[in-house]
Amino acid sequence: MEELEDREKVEIQLLLEGIYRLYGYDFRNYAYNSIRRRIWHRIHAMKLKTISALQDKVLHDPECMRLLMKDLMIHVTEMFRDPELFLAFRRRVVPLLHTYPFIRIWHAGCSTGEEVFSMAVLLHEEGLYHKSRIYATDASEDVINQARTGTFPLRKMQDYTKNYLQAGGTGSFSQYYTATEKSVTFHPFLKENMVFAQHNLVTDRSFNEFHVIFCRNVLIYFNKELQDQVHELFYESLTPFGVLALGNRESINFTTHAENYEVLDSREKLYRKVK
Ligand SMILES: C[S@@+](CC[C@H](N)C(=O)[O-])C[C@H]1O[C@@H](n2cnc3c(N)ncnc32)[C@H](O)[C@@H]1O
Repeated sequence: MEELEDREKVEIQLLLEGIYRLYGYDFRNYAYNSIRRRIWHRIHAMKLKTISALQDKVLHDPECMRLLMKDLMIHVTEMFRDPELFLAFRRRVVPLLHTYPFIRIWHAGCSTGEEVFSMAVLLHEEGLYHKSRIYATDASEDVINQARTGTFPLRKMQDYTKNYLQAGGTGSFSQYYTATEKSVTFHPFLKENMVFAQHNLVTDRSFNEFHVIFCRNVLIYFNKELQDQVHELFYESLTPFGVLALGNRESINFTTHAENYEVLDSREKLYRKVK
């Protein structure tokens, strides 16, 4: 049994090493159990038998690599996801932002953009959008291209409207988009202060200084070493008293930078850089 597990580990390491060397995507320090499950999902979907067979395919067929990437990078997201966080943001962070002449916000791992458009709506309602710039990044080019369109499935809007209201929305959510038969597109004014770019948290460096960084439901897929590395990047990228928002299963505790933040809201994982 142990021998089988050891062999599997070696095969996974070789696959991830090959991907890194050939395609430049570095999954070597992603959380092992999750990456293992995703790899086996792709093996079964392609009716293969072994990890080595998948490695052969991935290294020779960029389309297979694209499919595996989709499996490894979980893109699940929603508008005003965990609405209480957005409510806490309105109450605890918005008053601070009112005191700044200009605001830069980074959404790292923004997926298809639902979180970014939620933030734009919130800032608009709080009278802050005109002096904000939102940087929306993700390692996957496909999702960034989708995010740029500001178009989301119509069937999800009922849930999103509920989230919007729970998040303290002050208008009517439907005023922000135009609906067609199957989708809705958010009004272009919400995109005016957004910048979309491909950025990989593992291999790319800091590219600006931000007053707020949102990185929710991304670090959960990384191992401890990689989480610390990315926290270093966030720490470097935040202004003094800058705010960091993590996902509800993530925390600054036990990271190398825990001491440098104060807790703004422990339940909603809102932190402020104080050192
Ligand atoms: C589960 S989604 C989270 C989306 C959004 N932040 C939310 O909470 O709803 C995770 C996103 O992280 C992105 N991601 C994974 N690894 C990344 C990396 N190394 N650098 C940047 N983004 C990454 C994935 O492509 C995916 O879109």
